[in-house]
Amino acid sequence: MTLTATATRGAVLRPLTQVDRATIEAFSRAIPLFRPEEVEVALEVLDASFKPGQMDYITMGAELDGRLVGWICWGPTPCTVGTYDMYWVAVDPSVQGAGVGSLLVAEMERRLAGEARLIVVETGGRREYGPTRAFYMKRGYRIAARVPDFYAPGDDQVIFVKTPADPRAEESAKRR
Ligand SMILES: CC(C)(COP(=O)(O)OP(=O)(O)OC[C@H]1O[C@@H](n2cnc3c(N)ncnc32)[C@H](O)[C@@H]1OP(=O)(O)O)[C@@H](O)C(=O)NCCC(=O)NCCS
Repeated sequence: MTLTATATRGAVLRPLTQVDRATIEAFSRAIPLFRPEEVEVALEVLDASFKPGQMDYITMGAELDGRLVGWICWGPTPCTVGTYDMYWVAVDPSVQGAGVGSLLVAEMERRLAGEARLIVVETGGRREYGPTRAFYMKRGYRIAARVPDFYAPGDDQVIFVKTPADPRAEESAKRR
């Protein structure tokens, strides 16, 4: 079933717990773009986010009709000042294109407002990743670099960046 944008208005953001791991694994394995080893890496990141007291991986989930259908993970990039990596974002294939991914990215950006100088996200350059790249571009991310043959011969890495609006800077600009 493909949900419409109207249905997405019912999407609810919520924190993730270890109980959600099986659901995230199941819908991640149903995403044809992801190779099995990529799903393993996603689950490692998810597991790391559950470690008490850690500050490196922040996650958020999205539910539709009481069912977890998407998640996002981000965190401060080590050895940088104000740079954050969006490590992972994935939406259950049955509801892709209905606004859940946008909701998750908007929530990450809301939480990083005034804190992140730069948000970085890496993705694939292959044709199959075209919709994913379009997704980032529509959310205001721009291509900063392309690393040829990064993932495999003929499989480039594309690095997107976004400079989030700083509400404090906007406030002080208004006062000037
Ligand atoms: C990329 C992804 C997170 C976007 O989330 P989403 O909920 O499907 O996206 P939204 O509904 O918020 O946004 C839709 C836009 O994203 C793009 N898009 C990307 N993948 C899409 C898909 N499978 N179906 C529809 N639109 C998709 C389109 O440009 C679309 O724009 P439009 O509405 O003007 O047509 C999700 O499709 C997904 O999990 N894809 C596979 C995994 C992946 O690529 N993850 C990122 C790894 S780097």
